[in-house]
Amino acid sequence: MRVLVIGAGAREHALVLAMAQDPAVTALACAPGNAGVHSVAERLGLPDPTDGEQVAGLARQWHADLVVIGPEMPLVAGVADAVRAAGVACFGPSAAAAAIEGSKAFAKDVMSAAKVPTAHAETVDNPAHLDAALARFEPPYVVKDDGLAAGKGVVVSSDLDEARAHAMTLLDAGHPVLLESFLDGPEVSLFCLVDGRTVRPLLPAQDFKRVGDDDTGPNTGGMGSYAPLPWAEASLADDVVSTIVEPVVAELDARGTPFSGLLYAGLALTSTGPAVVEFNCRFGDPETQAILPLLRTPLAGLLHATATGRLAEQLALDWAPGAAVVVVLAAEGYPGTPRIGDVIVGADADGVLHAGTRRRDDGAVVSSGGRVLSVVGTGSDLTAAREDAYRRVAKIRLPGSHYRSDIALKRQ
Ligand code: GLY
Repeated sequence: MRVLVIGAGAREHALVLAMAQDPAVTALACAPGNAGVHSVAERLGLPDPTDGEQVAGLARQWHADLVVIGPEMPLVAGVADAVRAAGVACFGPSAAAAAIEGSKAFAKDVMSAAKVPTAHAETVDNPAHLDAALARFEPPYVVKDDGLAAGKGVVVSSDLDEARAHAMTLLDAGHPVLLESFLDGPEVSLFCLVDGRTVRPLLPAQDFKRVGDDDTGPNTGGMGSYAPLPWAEASLADDVVSTIVEPVVAELDARGTPFSGLLYAGLALTSTGPAVVEFNCRFGDPETQAILPLLRTPLAGLLHATATGRLAEQLALDWAPGAAVVVVLAAEGYPGTPRIGDVIVGADADGVLHAGTRRRDDGAVVSSGGRVLSVVGTGSDLTAAREDAYRRVAKIRLPGSHYRSDIALKRQ
């Protein structure tokens, strides 16, 4: 099987590393990729990953048997539709189904029809209606960009002025705003393979969205993750599949827009049970970097079965014992404007996945984005995996960089 992965982050680096272990894979490419993927995958040029004709053309030209689309923007833009229309199997939902992430208002409508627990929400698209709408909510206020915002469109604050200011920034930029009631309880990410009807959950994981230790500072695209969750009920994944994911998948199917790909349920485990914080239409970053090292089932075969409607034929997934912890190394300034162009020492070590990196002509790896590297530690349990991850982080040098020191420390 010739597999082409679309994307440039640490998630895509994790995907190609995992697929390189699948004996069915005869050729692997990543477009546009990053400075780390070359060890296992051919790196192909792709000027615009959100252009369906470009991606479909590349897939045909490279004779791909399977295209795996990593990020949400190409999915929301309809790239999976274009690849399938070109006759190539594609892991990733249609634009119509990807709206579950692309429009939070659409996601709320689907959840309401499917009777799935989620926060009460109101959409505001006119600044004149903002204050009255905010007055209908209690602190802490949850203010979200209705569209895609790379994890940075959400502000959760008990300060009404801060909540209002964020909403006004979004409205001034022409983005509708979603106000939500706050869901209390630990957050869990449950990734589910979905082939239109059949649902197979992966291991539950947890990510760390705030930039600072003890969940302080602004939201980011994700500063770390771990899997599995030893503190969660053993039945958590199956319960969420039957009460949340399957009803949503059935609702999308009934609307004529079946979901095929990875449905990411972001959940809060509230005192009355799991409730949906958000759905995403793709593998999450950085949870994927923690989950895939534990997966023993060959990944390319699994994604191909999902993409071609044969997930029900797949045997139960096989997981390695133990745990994985991911620590994200970010550039100075992130999640604001990151400082880029600095030489990174230790970026090519084992367990280091690239994201915001570029390789110079002299071979040096330099920073080129906010989240620069994902450092993966594994071990017999979370304590050992944590030690392994931080031991690896300590060997990396990037001037001004920062990372959280408490990933997987507080487990719940
Ligand atoms: N881990 C958050 C996300 O992938 O959106």
